[in-house]
Amino acid sequence: MTALLEVEDLRVAYGKIEAVKGISFSVEAGQVVTLIGTNGAGKTTTLRTLSGLLKPLAGSIRFDGKPLAGVPAHKIVALGLAHSPEGRHIFPRLTIAENLQLGAFLRSDTEGIRKDIQKAYDLFPILGERRNQAAGTLSGGEQQMLAMGRALMSRPKLLMLDEPSMGLSPIMMQKIMETIAELKAQGTTILLVEQNAQAALSLADQGHVMEIGKIVLSGTGQNLLHDESVRKAYLGED
Ligand SMILES: Nc1ncnc2c1ncn2[C@@H]1O[C@H](COP(=O)(O)OP(=O)(O)OP(=O)(O)O)[C@@H](O)[C@H]1O
Ligand SMILES: [Mg+2]
Repeated sequence: MTALLEVEDLRVAYGKIEAVKGISFSVEAGQVVTLIGTNGAGKTTTLRTLSGLLKPLAGSIRFDGKPLAGVPAHKIVALGLAHSPEGRHIFPRLTIAENLQLGAFLRSDTEGIRKDIQKAYDLFPILGERRNQAAGTLSGGEQQMLAMGRALMSRPKLLMLDEPSMGLSPIMMQKIMETIAELKAQGTTILLVEQNAQAALSLADQGHVMEIGKIVLSGTGQNLLHDESVRKAYLGED
């Protein structure tokens, strides 16, 4: 069986600085795969390249059997790859409902969109309660929920989440992680980038540790969670 996403020897540079230096990994349908690693390791660069926002220097990306080389970002969304970006990037002056609606910008099935907006409200009731409020009035954690809900509005085959727990209180972080587990249980395939290695590895089927542009260690979430070097470097143990 071929994987839903196959990344081979991917290299990405900003000018002369190579931020991703030849990484390979895959994501099977139904899996949660996590990329963890320190600041500047190249995690966001990897996701932005998969989304078509950055052009790779070399390497190949295959999604759902198709090469993504040269495919523009909006077509990549249409193929089923959605991205909830680092820092969320919600539209603060638009309402919550309008933000969700924008996540469905490529769809024209009004009734299906209406149902999926309701699904987002079921997943995150606070979004339903505040649906007509400007999104900029939401707390950080609530904005994260909105960013995830908006990414789901394209009915993705693969959902990429870049640091969904960033800047959140422990309780809010737990809520976001529980939602990721719920999405996984519903069969959503997820590529999760996280600084919170403990939470990400606990959920993940597969994990990859990135350091300065390279994958230095790969394994199942459980194996990495119990790996001594991971525990020392990322879980704050000595
Ligand atoms: N627009 C840019 N121009 C130049 N260099 C960049 C740019 N964006 C990122 N970089 C550099 O590329 C490297 C990888 O950055 P990236 O944002 O992918 O890391 P990251 O793993 O997501 O880190 P963090 O955990 O801090 O979000 C870093 O050295 C960063 O400074
Ligand atoms: Mg990042």
